[in-house]
Amino acid sequence: MTQDRESEREYHRPVMAAAVSELMRPVPAGVVVDATFGGGGHARELLKVLGGGHRLLGIDRDPAAIAQAEVLRRAVDDAQFGTDRFMVQEGNFAHLDEILVDAGVSAPVGVLFDFGVSSHHFDEPERGFSYRLEGPLDMRMDRSGSVTAADLVNHLEESELSTLLHRLGEEPAARRIARAIVNARPIATTTELAAVVERAVPGGRRRLHPARRTFQALRMAVNQELEAIDSGVRTALDLLAPQGRCITIAYHSLEDRLVKGLFADATKGCVCPPELPVCTCGASPSYRSLTRGVRKPSEEEIAANPRARSARLRAVERVAA
Ligand SMILES: C[S@@+](CC[C@H](N)C(=O)[O-])C[C@H]1O[C@@H](n2cnc3c(N)ncnc32)[C@H](O)[C@@H]1O
Repeated sequence: MTQDRESEREYHRPVMAAAVSELMRPVPAGVVVDATFGGGGHARELLKVLGGGHRLLGIDRDPAAIAQAEVLRRAVDDAQFGTDRFMVQEGNFAHLDEILVDAGVSAPVGVLFDFGVSSHHFDEPERGFSYRLEGPLDMRMDRSGSVTAADLVNHLEESELSTLLHRLGEEPAARRIARAIVNARPIATTTELAAVVERAVPGGRRRLHPARRTFQALRMAVNQELEAIDSGVRTALDLLAPQGRCITIAYHSLEDRLVKGLFADATKGCVCPPELPVCTCGASPSYRSLTRGVRKPSEEEIAANPRARSARLRAVERVAA
C-alpha cells in the first residue's frame, strides 16, 4: 500500500457509502456536489458508480481536507479520480450558492451532505476536537471564524454556557456542568475541560464519555453548524436540476430534525393552513422522498465502523421546478 493510500484510509471511513452510491446513481448527467468532501471516501465511490457524463465537485471548509483531495488527485492510481471529472473547492456550504457560481455550476444534479467532523479531526490533538487527546480548546474547522472553544468556555456567562450545552448538546446536566466550568476557569486544554465535566457529572462506568455532549455543543457553536446546514440544504433544494437528488447523513438529532423539517416542506406541496378541511392552493410538491423517513446503517457496518452508529440518512428527488 502506498503512503497516500494509507493516509486516505486513515483520514475517514465513509458512512453508508453503498446507500449513497445507490441513491445517487440514477441522477441525470451533470455535476454532483459532495458538499462535505472530508477524506473523499464518498466522492471516490460516487465517481466509480456515476457514468462519464458526470463531474464531481468536492467542497470542504477545512483546508486539511482540501489538501487531502490534492494528495488523492496527484497520487492515487485510480484513473477515474484524477481526471477532470473531479474538482475541489475550499469553502463553507453555508455559502453553497456562491461556491457554485464560482465553479460555474448553475443546477447540480446531486448534492451530498455528510455532516459534522471527520475522524481526522478527532485524531489530530492540536485541532482541539477530542476529549481524549490533550490539545488546545480550538475546535474551528476553518480559520474564518475567530471564536474558539476556549473563548466560549472562558468568557461566556454561566447562564449562557448552560443554555448552549442544553440547546446544542442536549445535555441534561447542563447547569451543573456550566457551574463547574465557571468555577474551574481558566481552562486551557481539551483534557482539562473533559476532567472538569467528568467531576461535575459523576457516575459509574459509562458507555459514552460524560464530556461527549459538552464537546459536541461547543463544536457546533464554534462552527455555527446548524446555521450552515439550514442555509446549505435550502440552497441545494433551490438549485437542484429536475430529477436531481439531495442526500444527507446526520449524526445526531439536532442535525436530523433540521433536515427532516426542510425535506418535509419540500415534499409537502400544499401550503394551505392546516385548519382548512380541503386543499385550495393546488400546489404540488417539488420533491419526493426516496427514503420514506430515515435509513440507518446495518449492524455489520456499525460493528466495522462504530462512528456509523448514529448515522441517519435521508434523500429526496426533485420532481417539479
Ligand atoms: C463526516 S466528514 C465527511 C466525510 C466524507 N464524506 C468522506 O467520505 O470522507 C464531514 C466533513 O465536512 C466538513 N464540513 C463540515 N461542515 C462544513 C461546512 N459547513 N462546509 C463545508 N464543509 C464542512 C468537515 O470539515 C469534514 O471534513
